[in-house]
Amino acid sequence: MTLDIAVERTPTSRIGQVDFDNIQFGRIFSDHQYLVDFDGENWVNPRVVPYGKIAMSPAISAIHYGQAIFEGMKAYKDTEGNPQLFRPLENWKRLNRSAHRMGMQEIPEEFFMEGIRALLDIDKDWIPTTEGSSLYLRPFMFATDDYIGVRPSNTYTFAIFSCPVNAYYSQPLRVKAESHYIRAAEGGVGAAKCAGNYGSVMMPAKLAQKEGFHQVLWLDAREHKFIEETGTTNMFVRIGDTLLTPSLDRHTILAGITRDSILKLAAHWGWKIEERDVNIDEVFEAYRNGTLKEIFASGTAATVAQVELIHYEGEEIQLGGLDSWEWYHKLSNTMREIKTGKTEDIFNWIYKL
Ligand code: COI
Repeated sequence: MTLDIAVERTPTSRIGQVDFDNIQFGRIFSDHQYLVDFDGENWVNPRVVPYGKIAMSPAISAIHYGQAIFEGMKAYKDTEGNPQLFRPLENWKRLNRSAHRMGMQEIPEEFFMEGIRALLDIDKDWIPTTEGSSLYLRPFMFATDDYIGVRPSNTYTFAIFSCPVNAYYSQPLRVKAESHYIRAAEGGVGAAKCAGNYGSVMMPAKLAQKEGFHQVLWLDAREHKFIEETGTTNMFVRIGDTLLTPSLDRHTILAGITRDSILKLAAHWGWKIEERDVNIDEVFEAYRNGTLKEIFASGTAATVAQVELIHYEGEEIQLGGLDSWEWYHKLSNTMREIKTGKTEDIFNWIYKL
């Protein structure tokens, strides 16, 4: 280890109280958290401490003006029980792209990676091993200046905590394509993993949930026609033997690491891929003419999740035969096997700890 990370162990581990066979996403936290501060000039005081509250000024810009960004990543155990991560450097790079867009401080690789290493060194027993489970890591950064003037903070805290989880969705998704509210416009922050992108869509998501949908499916801000992403995932549509996914060109959607991994696997298998604008009318037309085969969502928390229903302005796509969705099953099984060391890691995605 190159960094000198101070470690304060919890006197009483909570791991014995956890029912690893019945884990609810995001409600159980491992024993420790990692913190490091940017003091205006340097990243200082990297430390692992017991999981718990973080003292902060009530004036910080994170709370008032939204200088807050985060990542989601997962740790697994290989077949011998050794901890490993899936493409962690992609999370580090994306966090720094978000930091740049939000006028925040970028974090050097060692403060990110050594922090994860130190945290998992002490909390590795929290990585569950039942099929589909993992230890979800939540790296995040927030502004800490004690100042309510509107300007970028000079100081920040970067932290990581972790939760044992199963897949975020336990059933196929039913989504409502939103034709009134928008998530992101071109030139905005849609590609950043910033807190505001999630906060600003809570109200439309709440309305959709009241109507019985799991998620909103966001459309582009200008024409309300082009599929973007759901509140928690990127989107894929299989029409005939072509896999379509919205391109990143508009900078309005998150550059998902699972999304990228799916595209790399699909290309490796010789599947026809189109990363482009995907018009919702085209998807409904494919449904009507019988060429719409599969729809799935992807994300770190959600992994690869089937979408069985899309509602759009009074009309619905309702897909059946979920067990026979060949591309979804092949992708989701291969991804799971790579992450847990059960199949060859041909792309060098696994990072052994
Ligand atoms: C993730 O997939 O890691 C996310 O950040 C989505 C959500 C849980 C907020």
